[in-house]
Amino acid sequence: MSNFARHRKLRQSSGMRALVREHAWSIDDLVLPVFVQEGLQGKEEISAMPGVFHYGLDEFRREVVEISELGIPGIILFGLPAEKDELSTSAYADDGIVQQAIRAAKAENPDLVVMTDVCLCQYNPYGHCGVVRDGRIVNDESRALIAKTALSHALAGADAVAPSDMMDGRIQAIHDALEEHGLHDVVILSYAVKYASAFYGPFREAAHSAPAFGDRRTYQMDPANVREAVREAAADIAEGADMLMVKPALSYLDVTKTLRSAFSLPVVTYNVSAEYSMVKAAAANGWIDERAIVTEMLTSFKRAGADIVITYHAKDAARWYAERH
Ligand code: PBG
Repeated sequence: MSNFARHRKLRQSSGMRALVREHAWSIDDLVLPVFVQEGLQGKEEISAMPGVFHYGLDEFRREVVEISELGIPGIILFGLPAEKDELSTSAYADDGIVQQAIRAAKAENPDLVVMTDVCLCQYNPYGHCGVVRDGRIVNDESRALIAKTALSHALAGADAVAPSDMMDGRIQAIHDALEEHGLHDVVILSYAVKYASAFYGPFREAAHSAPAFGDRRTYQMDPANVREAVREAAADIAEGADMLMVKPALSYLDVTKTLRSAFSLPVVTYNVSAEYSMVKAAAANGWIDERAIVTEMLTSFKRAGADIVITYHAKDAARWYAERH
């Protein structure tokens, strides 16, 4: 009689492995970030993010058709305005680039879930996520403008607004603004747990939003903290969040797992720009198998407890998924 366990029994064939598999990702989990640029004709590739583009509105319409044909359920929009000013006015202008893109996306495909990143950093010359006064990022004035921005996205037809600014009390401000305007169905996806991370490097080129002075550590979280993540998430739930995000994804799987076990709201993880760039660079060098790496990462996000994955790999992943199913 053997006194050791025969673990390999359950791994002996692909059918057996499929039957005992605990976690799986699906195309239904994916959200693709899309950058829309005001005044741009056509599209321009972002150099550190091969396969990711800035889209002018016309090209964006075509992209929405392609995304829809691939069966990706949702996108999250980021805007690059033509003008930046102190009060980030193009962030909440009715004819702002994101507002126009929301209407365009909904006109092409009303069933596509259109989420928007709500932030000021692309819209003011300081490249900070809030209003700057005397070299400081002031909370409450920022919170009001963030709510104004979220409201303008909702009025343009966004299904979900996702504030990424990390100002305190912004979920409540957004919630109140939406309720006051009768926008009861607009989902608030809080970037509840957003770390001050070096993994956003390529995004700042992509969004033209690198801070002109200082860094984001007075509002984004310290990567060393996880109890604080629970406090942030609990506060956002109390203020009216419908979904919680953890960002970045890969180095923060423990945080995703913590939120999953502490709360019952849907948890979203954002597989950010440098996580994408690293894969692309290694794949371009022939050092890794891109498809195997990306699908393993997607599985790990699900294993950690994410319901939704925001990823620049979404189009490739959707194609791979279709091939297998
Ligand atoms: C803007 C914002 C950032 C990202 C999403 N929204 C950058 C930042 O906070 O510095 C990062 C996305 C990515 O790296 O893919 N507030």
